[in-house]
Amino acid sequence: MRTETAVKERYAAGAQTRETELCCPVDYDPQYLKVIPEEVIERDYGCGDPSKYLRSGETVLDLGSGTGKICFIAAQVVGPRGRVIGVDMTDEMLGVARRNAPVVAERIGYANVEFRKGRIQDLALDLERLDEELKANPISDAASFLAADGLAEELRIKHPLVADDSVDVVVSNCVLNLVEAKAKRQLFEEIFRVLKRGGRAVISDIVCDEEVPAHLQNDPELWSGCISGALTEQGFLDAFERAGFYGIQILKRDAAPWRTVEGIEFRSLTLEAFKGKQGPCFERNQAVVYKGPFKEVLDDDNHRMQRGLRYAVCDKTYGLYKKAPYATHFEFIDPLEEVSLSEAKPFDCSRTALRHPKETKGQDYSATTAASQCCDGGASCC
Ligand SMILES: C[S@@+](CC[C@H](N)C(=O)[O-])C[C@H]1O[C@@H](n2cnc3c(N)ncnc32)[C@H](O)[C@@H]1O
Repeated sequence: MRTETAVKERYAAGAQTRETELCCPVDYDPQYLKVIPEEVIERDYGCGDPSKYLRSGETVLDLGSGTGKICFIAAQVVGPRGRVIGVDMTDEMLGVARRNAPVVAERIGYANVEFRKGRIQDLALDLERLDEELKANPISDAASFLAADGLAEELRIKHPLVADDSVDVVVSNCVLNLVEAKAKRQLFEEIFRVLKRGGRAVISDIVCDEEVPAHLQNDPELWSGCISGALTEQGFLDAFERAGFYGIQILKRDAAPWRTVEGIEFRSLTLEAFKGKQGPCFERNQAVVYKGPFKEVLDDDNHRMQRGLRYAVCDKTYGLYKKAPYATHFEFIDPLEEVSLSEAKPFDCSRTALRHPKETKGQDYSATTAASQCCDGGASCC
Protein backbone atom coordinates (compact mmCIF):
# COMPACT_ATOMS: atom_id res chain seq x y z
CA MET A 1 0.00 0.00 0.00
CA ARG A 2 1.27 3.51 -0.74
CA THR A 3 2.24 5.29 2.42
CA GLU A 4 -0.02 8.24 1.58
CA THR A 5 -3.05 5.93 1.34
CA ALA A 6 -2.15 4.37 4.69
CA VAL A 7 -1.84 7.83 6.24
CA LYS A 8 -5.19 8.98 4.83
CA GLU A 9 -7.03 5.84 6.01
CA ARG A 10 -5.52 6.03 9.49
CA TYR A 11 -6.40 9.70 10.00
CA ALA A 12 -9.86 9.30 8.46
CA ALA A 13 -10.50 6.77 11.25
CA GLY A 14 -8.73 9.00 13.80
CA ALA A 15 -11.12 11.84 12.92
CA GLN A 16 -14.12 9.69 13.91
CA THR A 17 -12.78 8.21 17.15
CA ARG A 18 -9.78 9.06 19.28
CA GLU A 19 -6.78 6.83 18.56
CA THR A 20 -4.63 6.73 21.68
CA GLU A 21 -1.63 5.19 19.83
CA LEU A 22 -1.28 8.45 17.89
CA CYS A 23 -1.33 10.74 20.90
CA CYS A 24 1.75 12.35 22.33
CA PRO A 25 1.10 14.40 25.51
CA VAL A 26 1.42 18.17 24.99
CA ASP A 27 0.80 20.99 27.48
CA TYR A 28 -1.26 23.54 25.56
CA ASP A 29 -2.05 26.83 27.26
CA PRO A 30 -5.39 26.05 28.99
CA GLN A 31 -6.72 29.60 28.47
CA TYR A 32 -6.97 28.91 24.71
CA LEU A 33 -8.62 25.50 25.08
CA LYS A 34 -11.73 26.83 26.87
CA VAL A 35 -13.49 27.84 23.64
CA ILE A 36 -12.52 24.73 21.64
CA PRO A 37 -15.16 21.95 21.43
CA GLU A 38 -14.33 18.63 23.07
CA GLU A 39 -14.38 16.54 19.85
CA VAL A 40 -11.52 18.71 18.52
CA ILE A 41 -9.47 18.53 21.70
CA GLU A 42 -9.85 14.80 22.18
CA ARG A 43 -8.75 14.02 18.58
CA ASP A 44 -5.44 15.76 19.12
CA TYR A 45 -2.60 14.05 17.30
CA GLY A 46 0.04 16.74 17.79
CA CYS A 47 3.43 16.42 19.45
CA GLY A 48 4.28 20.04 20.26
CA ASP A 49 2.83 23.52 20.38
CA PRO A 50 4.02 25.86 17.58
CA SER A 51 1.18 28.28 18.42
CA LYS A 52 3.21 29.45 21.44
CA TYR A 53 5.52 31.33 19.09
CA LEU A 54 2.89 33.32 17.16
CA ARG A 55 2.14 37.03 17.48
CA SER A 56 -0.87 39.28 17.16
CA GLY A 57 -1.89 40.22 13.59
CA GLU A 58 0.01 37.46 11.79
CA THR A 59 -1.26 35.37 8.86
CA VAL A 60 -0.66 31.73 9.77
CA LEU A 61 -0.75 28.54 7.69
CA ASP A 62 -1.09 25.24 9.57
CA LEU A 63 0.10 22.21 7.59
CA GLY A 64 -1.90 19.05 8.33
CA SER A 65 -4.39 20.87 10.53
CA GLY A 66 -6.34 17.73 11.49
CA THR A 67 -9.43 18.55 13.56
CA GLY A 68 -8.19 22.15 13.86
CA LYS A 69 -6.90 22.51 17.40
CA ILE A 70 -3.71 24.47 16.55
CA CYS A 71 -5.72 26.68 14.14
CA PHE A 72 -8.28 27.47 16.85
CA ILE A 73 -5.53 28.31 19.37
CA ALA A 74 -3.69 30.38 16.72
CA ALA A 75 -6.94 32.25 15.92
CA GLN A 76 -6.95 33.59 19.48
CA VAL A 77 -3.22 34.40 19.57
CA VAL A 78 -3.20 36.34 16.27
CA GLY A 79 -6.50 38.03 17.14
CA PRO A 80 -9.10 39.62 14.86
CA ARG A 81 -6.43 41.38 12.73
CA GLY A 82 -4.72 38.04 12.04
CA ARG A 83 -5.78 35.11 9.85
CA VAL A 84 -5.38 31.35 10.06
CA ILE A 85 -5.52 28.82 7.21
CA GLY A 86 -5.48 25.09 7.92
CA VAL A 87 -4.60 22.65 5.13
CA ASP A 88 -5.31 18.92 5.31
CA MET A 89 -5.82 16.17 2.72
CA THR A 90 -8.23 13.99 4.73
CA ASP A 91 -11.96 14.75 4.24
CA GLU A 92 -12.95 13.39 7.66
CA MET A 93 -10.44 15.67 9.43
CA LEU A 94 -11.59 18.67 7.40
CA GLY A 95 -15.20 17.76 8.26
CA VAL A 96 -14.58 17.93 12.03
CA ALA A 97 -12.52 21.15 11.71
CA ARG A 98 -15.04 22.90 9.46
CA ARG A 99 -18.11 22.10 11.56
CA ASN A 100 -16.36 23.44 14.67
CA ALA A 101 -15.02 26.66 13.09
CA PRO A 102 -18.33 28.61 13.49
CA VAL A 103 -18.63 27.40 17.10
CA VAL A 104 -15.16 28.77 17.95
CA ALA A 105 -15.83 31.97 15.96
CA GLU A 106 -18.99 32.63 17.96
CA ARG A 107 -17.21 32.04 21.26
CA ILE A 108 -14.24 34.33 20.48
CA GLY A 109 -16.34 36.97 18.71
CA TYR A 110 -14.71 36.90 15.25
CA ALA A 111 -14.14 34.45 12.38
CA ASN A 112 -10.53 34.33 11.16
CA VAL A 113 -9.99 30.61 10.45
CA GLU A 114 -10.61 28.64 7.26
CA PHE A 115 -9.75 25.10 6.22
CA ARG A 116 -8.60 24.14 2.72
CA LYS A 117 -8.10 20.72 1.15
CA GLY A 118 -4.65 20.01 -0.21
CA ARG A 119 -1.47 18.00 0.12
CA ILE A 120 1.15 19.90 2.03
CA GLN A 121 3.89 18.88 -0.42
CA ASP A 122 1.83 20.52 -3.21
CA LEU A 123 0.34 23.63 -1.61
CA ALA A 124 -0.55 25.18 -4.97
CA LEU A 125 -3.07 22.47 -5.89
CA ASP A 126 -6.61 23.03 -4.56
CA LEU A 127 -7.97 19.48 -4.31
CA GLU A 128 -11.60 20.59 -3.99
CA ARG A 129 -11.41 22.60 -7.22
CA LEU A 130 -9.73 19.62 -8.88
CA ASP A 131 -12.54 17.36 -7.57
CA GLU A 132 -15.13 19.65 -9.18
CA GLU A 133 -13.31 19.70 -12.51
CA LEU A 134 -12.92 15.92 -12.53
CA LYS A 135 -16.61 15.40 -11.79
CA ALA A 136 -17.37 17.37 -14.93
CA ASN A 137 -14.59 15.67 -16.93
CA PRO A 138 -14.02 12.18 -15.47
CA ILE A 139 -10.86 10.25 -16.25
CA SER A 140 -11.76 7.32 -18.47
CA ASP A 141 -8.69 6.72 -20.60
CA ALA A 142 -5.05 7.70 -21.02
CA ALA A 143 -5.94 10.88 -22.92
CA SER A 144 -8.29 12.14 -20.18
CA PHE A 145 -5.65 11.18 -17.56
CA LEU A 146 -3.09 13.37 -19.31
CA ALA A 147 -5.65 16.15 -19.72
CA ALA A 148 -6.36 16.01 -15.97
CA ASP A 149 -2.65 16.38 -15.32
CA GLY A 150 -2.63 19.51 -17.48
CA LEU A 151 -5.71 20.81 -15.71
CA ALA A 152 -4.05 20.36 -12.30
CA GLU A 153 -1.08 22.37 -13.54
CA GLU A 154 -3.37 25.13 -14.76
CA LEU A 155 -5.17 25.24 -11.39
CA ARG A 156 -1.82 25.55 -9.58
CA ILE A 157 -0.99 28.62 -11.63
CA LYS A 158 -4.39 30.32 -11.96
CA HIS A 159 -6.00 29.44 -8.60
CA PRO A 160 -3.28 28.37 -6.16
CA LEU A 161 -4.52 26.88 -2.88
CA VAL A 162 -1.84 28.95 -1.12
CA ALA A 163 -0.22 31.75 -3.12
CA ASP A 164 3.51 32.59 -3.24
CA ASP A 165 4.82 34.96 -0.53
CA SER A 166 1.45 35.17 1.23
CA VAL A 167 2.01 33.86 4.78
CA ASP A 168 3.82 35.31 7.83
CA VAL A 169 4.24 32.02 9.68
CA VAL A 170 3.93 28.40 8.57
CA VAL A 171 3.24 26.13 11.52
CA SER A 172 2.76 22.38 11.66
CA ASN A 173 2.26 19.89 14.45
CA CYS A 174 3.40 16.33 13.88
CA VAL A 175 2.76 16.07 10.13
CA LEU A 176 5.94 16.58 8.07
CA ASN A 177 7.17 13.09 8.99
CA LEU A 178 4.06 11.61 7.32
CA VAL A 179 4.97 12.90 3.85
CA GLU A 180 6.47 10.30 1.52
CA ALA A 181 10.27 10.26 1.34
CA LYS A 182 10.32 11.14 -2.35
CA ALA A 183 8.17 14.26 -1.74
CA LYS A 184 10.04 15.57 1.30
CA ARG A 185 12.32 17.93 -0.62
CA GLN A 186 9.35 19.46 -2.44
CA LEU A 187 7.56 19.84 0.91
CA PHE A 188 10.31 22.11 2.31
CA GLU A 189 10.41 24.05 -0.98
CA GLU A 190 6.66 24.61 -0.72
CA ILE A 191 6.96 25.94 2.85
CA PHE A 192 9.59 28.36 1.55
CA ARG A 193 7.48 29.39 -1.46
CA VAL A 194 4.35 30.38 0.45
CA LEU A 195 6.18 32.39 3.13
CA LYS A 196 6.58 36.13 2.73
CA ARG A 197 10.12 37.50 2.76
CA GLY A 198 10.85 37.98 6.47
CA GLY A 199 8.40 35.20 7.36
CA ARG A 200 9.23 32.10 9.36
CA ALA A 201 8.37 28.44 9.83
CA VAL A 202 7.71 27.11 13.34
CA ILE A 203 7.39 23.37 13.14
CA SER A 204 6.87 20.69 15.78
CA ASP A 205 7.56 17.18 14.57
CA ILE A 206 8.81 13.75 15.55
CA VAL A 207 12.50 13.25 14.80
CA CYS A 208 14.83 10.34 15.49
CA ASP A 209 18.38 9.99 16.75
CA GLU A 210 19.43 7.39 14.11
CA GLU A 211 18.40 6.77 10.49
CA VAL A 212 15.25 4.62 10.21
CA PRO A 213 16.21 1.33 8.48
CA ALA A 214 14.41 0.21 5.30
CA HIS A 215 12.33 -2.55 6.95
CA LEU A 216 10.78 0.01 9.34
CA GLN A 217 10.26 2.50 6.52
CA ASN A 218 8.29 -0.12 4.61
CA ASP A 219 5.84 -0.68 7.47
CA PRO A 220 2.67 1.37 6.68
CA GLU A 221 1.40 1.08 10.27
CA LEU A 222 4.63 2.58 11.63
CA TRP A 223 4.65 5.18 8.85
CA SER A 224 1.15 6.47 9.63
CA GLY A 225 2.05 6.26 13.33
CA CYS A 226 4.65 9.07 12.90
CA ILE A 227 7.64 6.70 13.19
CA SER A 228 8.94 5.48 9.84
CA GLY A 229 8.93 8.82 8.01
CA ALA A 230 10.72 10.72 10.77
CA LEU A 231 13.88 12.55 9.74
CA THR A 232 16.94 12.45 11.94
CA GLU A 233 17.43 15.52 14.13
CA GLN A 234 20.22 16.71 11.85
CA GLY A 235 18.32 15.76 8.68
CA PHE A 236 15.38 17.86 9.85
CA LEU A 237 17.52 20.98 10.32
CA ASP A 238 19.44 20.30 7.07
CA ALA A 239 16.16 20.12 5.09
CA PHE A 240 15.32 23.70 6.07
CA GLU A 241 18.83 24.88 5.25
CA ARG A 242 18.69 23.20 1.82
CA ALA A 243 15.39 24.93 1.04
CA GLY A 244 17.02 28.34 1.61
CA PHE A 245 16.06 29.16 5.20
CA TYR A 246 18.41 30.90 7.65
CA GLY A 247 18.63 31.41 11.41
CA ILE A 248 17.38 27.88 12.03
CA GLN A 249 17.18 27.03 15.70
CA ILE A 250 15.77 24.41 18.00
CA LEU A 251 13.13 25.98 20.25
CA LYS A 252 12.28 22.82 22.18
CA ARG A 253 13.64 19.28 22.20
CA ASP A 254 12.03 16.71 24.48
CA ALA A 255 14.67 15.03 26.62
CA ALA A 256 12.61 11.85 26.93
CA PRO A 257 11.73 9.95 23.75
CA TRP A 258 8.03 9.62 22.84
CA ARG A 259 8.72 6.08 21.56
CA THR A 260 11.74 3.84 21.09
CA VAL A 261 11.67 1.27 18.26
CA GLU A 262 14.48 -1.27 17.86
CA GLY A 263 16.72 1.01 19.93
CA ILE A 264 16.02 4.15 17.86
CA GLU A 265 14.62 7.02 19.89
CA PHE A 266 11.76 9.10 18.45
CA ARG A 267 11.09 12.41 20.18
CA SER A 268 9.31 15.70 19.65
CA LEU A 269 11.29 18.71 18.47
CA THR A 270 10.14 22.24 17.66
CA LEU A 271 12.25 24.46 15.42
CA GLU A 272 12.10 27.89 13.88
CA ALA A 273 13.54 28.90 10.47
CA PHE A 274 13.46 32.24 8.62
CA LYS A 275 13.01 33.22 4.96
CA GLY A 276 14.70 36.30 3.53
CA LYS A 277 18.46 35.96 3.07
CA GLN A 278 18.27 35.86 -0.74
CA GLY A 279 18.84 38.98 -2.83
CA PRO A 280 21.46 41.53 -3.86
CA CYS A 281 24.11 42.86 -1.46
CA PHE A 282 24.97 46.57 -1.17
CA GLU A 283 27.78 48.43 0.60
CA ARG A 284 26.52 51.08 3.03
CA ASN A 285 29.60 51.12 5.29
CA GLN A 286 27.82 49.36 8.13
CA ALA A 287 29.63 47.18 10.67
CA VAL A 288 28.66 44.63 13.31
CA VAL A 289 30.41 43.20 16.36
CA TYR A 290 29.53 39.70 17.55
CA LYS A 291 29.14 40.00 21.34
CA GLY A 292 29.78 36.37 22.33
CA PRO A 293 29.63 34.18 24.41
CA PHE A 294 31.06 31.83 21.78
CA LYS A 295 34.54 32.57 20.48
CA GLU A 296 33.36 32.39 16.88
CA VAL A 297 30.11 32.02 14.92
CA LEU A 298 29.22 31.05 11.32
CA ASP A 299 25.95 32.25 9.74
CA ASP A 300 23.93 30.65 6.92
CA ASP A 301 25.77 32.76 4.31
CA ASN A 302 29.13 31.46 5.57
CA HIS A 303 30.13 34.70 7.33
CA ARG A 304 32.51 33.58 10.07
CA MET A 305 32.91 36.12 12.88
CA GLN A 306 35.08 36.17 15.95
CA ARG A 307 33.81 37.57 19.20
CA GLY A 308 34.52 41.28 19.71
CA LEU A 309 35.82 42.07 16.20
CA ARG A 310 34.23 44.66 13.94
CA TYR A 311 33.07 43.18 10.61
CA ALA A 312 31.93 44.78 7.35
CA VAL A 313 28.50 43.48 6.29
CA CYS A 314 26.21 44.28 3.40
CA ASP A 315 22.99 46.21 3.93
CA LYS A 316 20.93 42.98 3.68
CA THR A 317 22.95 41.13 6.34
CA TYR A 318 22.89 44.24 8.55
CA GLY A 319 19.08 44.25 8.31
CA LEU A 320 18.83 40.51 9.02
CA TYR A 321 21.09 40.74 12.07
CA LYS A 322 18.96 43.57 13.48
CA LYS A 323 15.98 41.19 13.70
CA ALA A 324 15.25 37.86 15.41
CA PRO A 325 16.95 35.48 15.89
CA TYR A 326 20.22 37.41 15.71
CA ALA A 327 19.61 40.91 17.13
CA THR A 328 20.61 40.25 20.74
CA HIS A 329 23.95 38.73 19.71
CA PHE A 330 25.34 41.78 17.88
CA GLU A 331 26.30 45.42 18.31
CA PHE A 332 25.47 47.60 15.30
CA ILE A 333 27.68 50.41 14.01
CA ASP A 334 26.23 52.86 11.48
CA PRO A 335 28.59 55.03 9.42
CA LEU A 336 28.86 58.65 10.54
CA GLU A 337 27.75 59.66 7.07
CA GLU A 338 24.87 57.59 5.73
CA VAL A 339 25.21 56.01 2.27
CA SER A 340 21.78 55.99 0.62
CA LEU A 341 20.63 52.73 -0.92
CA SER A 342 20.34 54.35 -4.35
CA GLU A 343 24.03 55.39 -4.20
CA ALA A 344 25.29 52.16 -2.61
CA LYS A 345 27.74 50.02 -4.60
CA PRO A 346 27.52 46.20 -4.82
CA PHE A 347 29.06 44.36 -1.84
CA ASP A 348 30.89 41.04 -2.19
CA CYS A 349 29.12 38.89 0.40
CA SER A 350 31.16 35.76 -0.41
CA ARG A 351 33.99 36.89 1.90
CA THR A 352 34.05 38.11 5.49
CA ALA A 353 36.16 41.22 6.00
CA LEU A 354 37.00 43.31 9.03
CA ARG A 355 35.94 46.93 8.95
CA HIS A 356 38.43 49.54 10.14
CA PRO A 357 36.80 52.19 12.36
CA LYS A 358 38.01 54.83 9.88
CA GLU A 359 35.71 53.32 7.23
CA THR A 360 32.79 53.96 9.56
CA LYS A 361 33.83 57.43 10.67
CA GLY A 362 35.39 58.61 7.38
CA GLN A 363 39.11 58.77 6.52
CA ASP A 364 39.36 62.47 7.43
CA TYR A 365 37.66 62.20 10.80
CA SER A 366 39.86 63.84 13.45
CA ALA A 367 37.44 65.23 16.02
CA THR A 368 38.41 65.77 19.66
CA THR A 369 35.53 66.11 22.09
CA ALA A 370 34.93 66.73 25.78
CA ALA A 371 33.63 63.86 27.93
CA SER A 372 30.00 63.23 27.08
CA GLN A 373 27.38 64.02 29.74
CA CYS A 374 26.53 60.38 30.22
CA CYS A 375 26.09 60.25 33.97
CA ASP A 376 24.01 61.64 36.75
CA GLY A 377 26.94 62.94 38.81
CA GLY A 378 26.77 59.98 41.21
CA ALA A 379 29.67 57.84 42.47
CA SER A 380 29.59 55.63 39.36
CA CYS A 381 30.49 58.58 37.10
CA CYS A 382 33.67 58.10 35.02
C1 LIG B 1 -0.65 13.37 13.27
S1 LIG B 1 -2.04 14.21 12.62
C2 LIG B 1 -1.78 15.84 13.27
C3 LIG B 1 -3.02 16.66 13.23
C4 LIG B 1 -2.91 18.05 13.88
N1 LIG B 1 -1.77 18.79 13.38
C5 LIG B 1 -2.88 17.97 15.39
O1 LIG B 1 -2.01 18.63 15.98
O2 LIG B 1 -3.72 17.29 15.97
C6 LIG B 1 -1.61 14.35 10.92
C7 LIG B 1 -2.61 15.13 10.05
O3 LIG B 1 -1.95 15.48 8.85
C8 LIG B 1 -2.74 15.13 7.73
N2 LIG B 1 -1.79 14.81 6.66
C9 LIG B 1 -0.88 13.81 6.65
N3 LIG B 1 -0.15 13.86 5.51
C10 LIG B 1 -0.62 14.92 4.80
C11 LIG B 1 -0.28 15.48 3.54
N4 LIG B 1 0.69 14.97 2.80
N5 LIG B 1 -0.96 16.57 3.13
C12 LIG B 1 -1.97 17.10 3.88
N6 LIG B 1 -2.34 16.60 5.07
C13 LIG B 1 -1.67 15.52 5.53
C14 LIG B 1 -3.59 13.99 8.21
O4 LIG B 1 -4.79 13.91 7.45
C15 LIG B 1 -3.84 14.37 9.66
O5 LIG B 1 -4.96 15.18 9.79
